[in-house]
Amino acid sequence: MKALVTGVAGFIGSNLADTLLARGWTVTGLDNFSTGRRRFLEGALQQPQFRLVEAELLDLVPHHEHFRGVDVVFHLAANADVRFGPDHPRRDLEQNTIATANVLEAMRIEGVKTICFSSTGSVYGETEVVPTPEDAPFPVQTSLYGASKVAAEGLIAAYCEAFGMRGCVYRFVSVLGERYTHGHVIDFLRKLRQDPTRLPVLGNGRQRKSYLYVGDCVEGVLTGLERGSGRYNVFNLGTDEYCEVNDSIRVISEHLGVQPVIEYGGGDRGWVGDNPFIYLDCSRIRALGWRPRLTIAEGVQRTIEYLHANPALLEPEGAQ
Ligand SMILES: NC(=O)c1ccc[n+]([C@@H]2O[C@H](COP(=O)([O-])OP(=O)(O)OC[C@H]3O[C@@H](n4cnc5c(N)ncnc54)[C@H](O)[C@@H]3O)[C@@H](O)[C@H]2O)c1
Repeated sequence: MKALVTGVAGFIGSNLADTLLARGWTVTGLDNFSTGRRRFLEGALQQPQFRLVEAELLDLVPHHEHFRGVDVVFHLAANADVRFGPDHPRRDLEQNTIATANVLEAMRIEGVKTICFSSTGSVYGETEVVPTPEDAPFPVQTSLYGASKVAAEGLIAAYCEAFGMRGCVYRFVSVLGERYTHGHVIDFLRKLRQDPTRLPVLGNGRQRKSYLYVGDCVEGVLTGLERGSGRYNVFNLGTDEYCEVNDSIRVISEHLGVQPVIEYGGGDRGWVGDNPFIYLDCSRIRALGWRPRLTIAEGVQRTIEYLHANPALLEPEGAQ
């Protein structure tokens, strides 16, 4: 089987590419290296079945030849950070919605029939249905990121209907594990490295979140692709548990052997669009035989160990 992975140099994309290669797929990886890192592709680049294309998805349609002969497009490239939407109001629209439209056009032109898309639990906004199933009533969007992903999901559904494509859309909770480069664990580790005596925390620390280990995320994506039926499938991917941000702070502090004074920013949201309670009902993907192997605590632990073994990733952003 031949895959094209967009966002291949990113956290989840590079893990996915390694898994596909280990399973005998031929993989073309596409990335513009805006947040991706070459070092994440060191293993893949040594494999003859891997080809790297450095390209910008916003200029993609002229480069649709990279999609020729591909069986499945795994579209992971995006602006993956929900927090800074209001600072750059066009970024989510361009990187998440328009880039997805370009991927779909390249697929249509080259006759590629299957797309797997990394959406997000943020599309549920602040739903009152918790745990949240895929068919929960859609509430008001609370982030530009979530809104841009909902729009991309809509385009995928419409292309499936119009052009006989098959779509698998995955709404991830926050993902962590090896090659993790953004999110609360790395933020806290960076801050505690600078000053182990105090830890500024956005919000009140009581936000309840669900986290998924990246290996389990990749397995979930492949399970949905291989065992899901139907032209257009939507799967939540998360763990059957949640924890408070304060719980992660405890695990991180214990691991570092520090006891910082926690300085809460206040309020029950860390930023505009921060949902104080994310917990997805994943029974749809579980019915296909998938289940996460790692608990949240184990995932956080692995992430901390990985970052300790790769301290360059803990340098302030932009300095790596
Ligand atoms: N990490 C999470 O917790 C999480 C949670 C929910 C959903 N997701 C989604 O999963 C996907 C992967 O997330 P990630 O954490 O690996 O992010 P990441 O930032 O590590 O990876 C994204 C990759 O896409 C590339 N990219 C971005 N814009 C591009 C463009 N215009 N053209 C070409 N390449 C481009 C970046 O260079 C990077 O390598 C994203 O779609 C994200 O929205 C992630």
